[in-house]
Amino acid sequence: MAADGLDKRALESRLARYGQEHVLAFWDELDAAGRAQLAEQLADIDLDLVDSLYRTGSDAVNFAELARRAEPPHAIRLAGDQNPFSPEAARARGEAALREGQVAVLVTAGGQGSRLGFAHPKSLYKIGPISGASLLQIHIEKIRATARRYGVSVPLYVMTSPVTDQETRRFLDEHDRFGLAADDVFVFCQGTMPAVDAATGKLLLAGRDRLFLSPDGHGGTVKALRRSEAFADLARRGIEHIFYFQVDNPLATVCDPEFIGYHLLAESEYTLQVIGKRSPQEKLGNVVRVDERTQIIEYSDLPDEAAEWRNDDGSLKLWAGSIAVHMFGVDFLRRVAESDVGLPFHRAIKRVPHLGEGGEPVEPAEPNAVKFEQFIFDLLPLARESLSVEVAADDTFAALKNAPGAPLESPEYVQRMMSDLHRRWLRQVGAEVDEQTIVEISPLFALDAEQLAERVAPGTVVSDDTYFC
Ligand code: UTP
Repeated sequence: MAADGLDKRALESRLARYGQEHVLAFWDELDAAGRAQLAEQLADIDLDLVDSLYRTGSDAVNFAELARRAEPPHAIRLAGDQNPFSPEAARARGEAALREGQVAVLVTAGGQGSRLGFAHPKSLYKIGPISGASLLQIHIEKIRATARRYGVSVPLYVMTSPVTDQETRRFLDEHDRFGLAADDVFVFCQGTMPAVDAATGKLLLAGRDRLFLSPDGHGGTVKALRRSEAFADLARRGIEHIFYFQVDNPLATVCDPEFIGYHLLAESEYTLQVIGKRSPQEKLGNVVRVDERTQIIEYSDLPDEAAEWRNDDGSLKLWAGSIAVHMFGVDFLRRVAESDVGLPFHRAIKRVPHLGEGGEPVEPAEPNAVKFEQFIFDLLPLARESLSVEVAADDTFAALKNAPGAPLESPEYVQRMMSDLHRRWLRQVGAEVDEQTIVEISPLFALDAEQLAERVAPGTVVSDDTYFC
C-alpha cells in the first residue's frame, strides 16, 4: 500500500502543476488493477502539450488571410492538354512498380465512426448492396485482385486504434483475412489523446479508473508506424511506395496504376487524388497552393467568399477537393517519423459523456469537450515534391459517414453509388441493364470495366438484381 501511496503523491504533484489532480478523486477506492490502469494512462499523457493546446490552440491560423493568397494546386487534370505526362505513360510506370512488388496498401481504420452510429468498427459495416460484404472485405478483394493481376503479393497495413483494434483483429482472423496470407497483413494501433472540458480545460474521466481518451486522428499514422515494426517490415519487403486510403470509401481505386504512375513520374513524395468540387462549400479539404507550398484548408476553415471565387469561365478557382487517397514515398514517411517535426493538433468541440465530480454519469446535451486530432494532410508542406491528380468523383469516392436515412454519405447513398458505378461498367462493355436493377461486382470478378469486358459479353441482358462474383 505504501507503494500505492507514494505513487499517488507523485501523481498528485505532477497533476497539480496543471490543475488536473481531480482525476485522482476516486483513487482511494480503486483496486490495484484500476490504479495501475489510471496511472499508466496518465504516464502516457504529455500534460504540457495538452495544457498548451487547450490554452492557445495550435491551429490559431488566420484562414481568411491564408485563403487570400491561395492558388489552385499543381495538378494533373482529367481534361488536361497541359498535363506533363500522358495517362498511358503513367499507367505503364505504375504497372511496372506494381509488378516489381514495390507498392503496399495502408488503410486507416481507427476512427470512432460516431456519426454512423454503428456499435462496431466501421470497417465491419456490411456495405455491399447485394453481397452484404463488409468494407474491409471489399478493400481486401481489391488488393487480392491487384496482386493476381501483377503476379506479386501486395501487403496490407491496417491502422486501428484502441477503439477498433481488438474487434478488427478478431474479424480478420475469423474470416481468414478474406483470403490474404497472414504474412501480408500487418495491423498496427494508433495512439490516443485525452479530451478536456471545453470551459475549464480539465481532463475528463470516462470511469473512476480511466480517462476519456480518443484516437489521435488519421495524422497519428506517422507516429503509429514509427512505434510499430512497420518500417522494418516495409524494408524487409522492399516496399518503396504506399497507397494510402481510408476505410470508409468502398469506391477507392486501390492501387490505381495510373495514379501510382503520376506519383513516380513526377518524383513526388506525397500525391493526392482530388476531385473537382461539386459545390463551393462541399465538405472536403481544399487542396491549395500558398507561397509555392501545397496544403489543405479544411472546408470548415475556408471562408465562404474564397470558396465562391470563380475563374472567367465560371468554374471554381479553388476547385480541388481531397478524397483522402494518397501515395506516399516510404522514405518520406520515414524521414518525417524520425524528425522532430510533429504535426499540429486540430481542435474539435464534441459531445463527450463523462463522470461528474461526484462520480455520477454526465450525458451532455450539447458539445462540451475539446478533442485534439492530427490530420494526415498536414504532412503535405513537409514534402519536397507533391502533386494532385484529378479523378472522377462518381468513379472513386463514396464515403460512409452518416447513419441510415441521412441524405448524403449514408449507407443507402454509398450503396447507390456502388451500384451506379457497376451499372456504368456493365453498359461500357455492352451489357443491357436498366436503372432499377441493382448490380454489384466483386473486385475478384472484375476490378474495372476493362477486366469486366473479358467476362461479360456485349449484349448480355441483366434483368435481375445481380452480384457478379
Ligand atoms: P473521420 O474523420 O471521418 O472519422 O475519419 P470517423 O471515425 O470515420 O467518423 P466520425 O467523425 O467519428 O463520425 C476518416 C477516416 O480516418 C480514419 C477513420 O477510420 C476513417 O477511415 N481515422 C480517423 C483513423 O484511422 N483514426 C482517427 O483517429 C480518425
